[in-house]
Amino acid sequence: MSTKPGNFNSEIHVLDYRSPFNKFRVGRDQLISIDGRETESLNGLWNFYTDPIEYLLRGAWYKESRYDGEGREKPCDYDFEAMDEIKVPSCWNMERPELFLYENLGVYFRTFNYEKHEEGERVFLHFEGVSYRAYIFLNGECIAMHDGASTPFSVEITDKVKKTNRLIVGADAKRQDERVPMTNTDWFNYGGIYRDVLFVRTPKAFIKDWFVRLSPSSGYSEIALDFTVDGSESGKAVLSIPELGVNETVEYKGAKGKAVIKAKPELWSPENPKLYDVKLSIDGDSLSDRIGFREFRVEGDKILLNGKERFMKGICVHEDHIDLGKCTDEETIRETIRVVKEELHGVFIRLAHYPHTRLFAKIADEMGIMLWEEIPVYWAIAFNNEKTYEDAENQLGELMRRDINRASVVIWSVGNENPDTDDRFSFMSRLAGYVKENDPTRAVSAACLVDEVGEKIDDRLADKLDIIGVNEYYGWYNPDFSKLGRVLRNSNPDKPVIITEVGAGARAGNHGTSDMLWTEERQELLYKKQVDQIGGCSYIKGVSPWILYDFRAQRRVNRYQEGFNRKGLIDSDRKTHKKAFRVLSDFYKTK
Ligand code: GCU
Repeated sequence: MSTKPGNFNSEIHVLDYRSPFNKFRVGRDQLISIDGRETESLNGLWNFYTDPIEYLLRGAWYKESRYDGEGREKPCDYDFEAMDEIKVPSCWNMERPELFLYENLGVYFRTFNYEKHEEGERVFLHFEGVSYRAYIFLNGECIAMHDGASTPFSVEITDKVKKTNRLIVGADAKRQDERVPMTNTDWFNYGGIYRDVLFVRTPKAFIKDWFVRLSPSSGYSEIALDFTVDGSESGKAVLSIPELGVNETVEYKGAKGKAVIKAKPELWSPENPKLYDVKLSIDGDSLSDRIGFREFRVEGDKILLNGKERFMKGICVHEDHIDLGKCTDEETIRETIRVVKEELHGVFIRLAHYPHTRLFAKIADEMGIMLWEEIPVYWAIAFNNEKTYEDAENQLGELMRRDINRASVVIWSVGNENPDTDDRFSFMSRLAGYVKENDPTRAVSAACLVDEVGEKIDDRLADKLDIIGVNEYYGWYNPDFSKLGRVLRNSNPDKPVIITEVGAGARAGNHGTSDMLWTEERQELLYKKQVDQIGGCSYIKGVSPWILYDFRAQRRVNRYQEGFNRKGLIDSDRKTHKKAFRVLSDFYKTK
């Protein structure tokens, strides 16, 4: 089809204006470790406007070309410096009441200055989380595009940064069927630059990532190290762990180095969250972190931490706060872990259904709680779409690189409640294989569904998992509670099962008989019946009931829920405990 020349205007005629940005995609391969690095923050007040028609992209506003080819000024509809300000990081839904339900493109703008500090230094922009797609523009050029609402990404700007710089970020929070997650989720879709934005300087040659852990099945007497260097093909690195008397020189070639070092660290556990100061240095650069050493593995139908069998006394948690949205802070995380450890007597938290902030696992290491971390391969993903798979695997890779040295992270989950179809089996088997290939020190799992026809635990994906997660809501969504007993009796799994979700809704303060839905008494009775069944089943080696706190969910709109999923054991005020809380804490006290 030919186009009559002269009246084609890209701003109003181009339909596929987004795909040219695909060539700027960044992901796990560009992600740099920031462990122990001195970074400079670009948080603060940025200019912001909503751009539902996406003129930033279709009109190339990011170029800020205000004059025509002859130098004559053109009328521009944008004026980045003059836009209202918004806090970064934040969720726009919580910052602006009028944006509470906004799920489209939000555009952020700020300037920053730059002076070189060291000859040959390299500079990066690093984003800890932008929901869902991020377009990054520096001084009128697109420099990056990233998919994934909950994982970090980095982009090198060494050759593009100037003395004064104009930085524009488009955050596109649209739900789309080929994304991960797709359009239908049971959690609130917050939008924005909701985690830190950092400016990172490195020498020409720097350590890009590292993995330090107890060498599996070494009798707790060897520490293994793998690392990658960027900007130098070969050289020497030094791993130092002063408290263990480790000061090991390790050669690296082909930009990679590895070593196994004799050492007998005090083992990390929830009861003894021992951390060591660890530093890896090469000439001119280093990474450092506080790292715990432990061994987590499955043996037969048992879950072992440091060789001792554990029952995973857990609870699920969303990254959702009534005031902060999907943002969180140290105080909130510490209180969550305190409640789980001290009041619930738990040792395990399932971080549902997507990677939570990096800070959560850092604090979990310190306070002593084991974590299940998950990518949002949730419900009906476009399992037959290769680009969707690449997105899922990239998010998994970014999560694993970010938290690879966290002792608290013991399970990587590749999804939740997915239909047992051929496409899903292939898609999630590949993800499970990716986990096993890249991390021999953790278990791979997924939250599977029960085979309701055969009335048993029988998901094909279980063959690819180390631990079978099972979500079941007998006594709630399936009112016939007696079915649970049949399912447990009919099943004969050859590996440990964790009941990864079980629960019922209750509005805090709503009381009645235990026959009445949405009362605390009904939720309490369900928990009593559930812990009785779960406690009596030998192959169930853990449980993480749904969920610690009530959380926002747009489909939950009846008079008891009013926009919140009310299966929490504690109200969304994070203070009011419901009666069922005590049932679970009493059960965990016995375990
Ligand atoms: C599912 C799902 C959760 C959801 C819960 C519920 O198991 O995994 O994300 O919130 O059920 O229906 O409350």
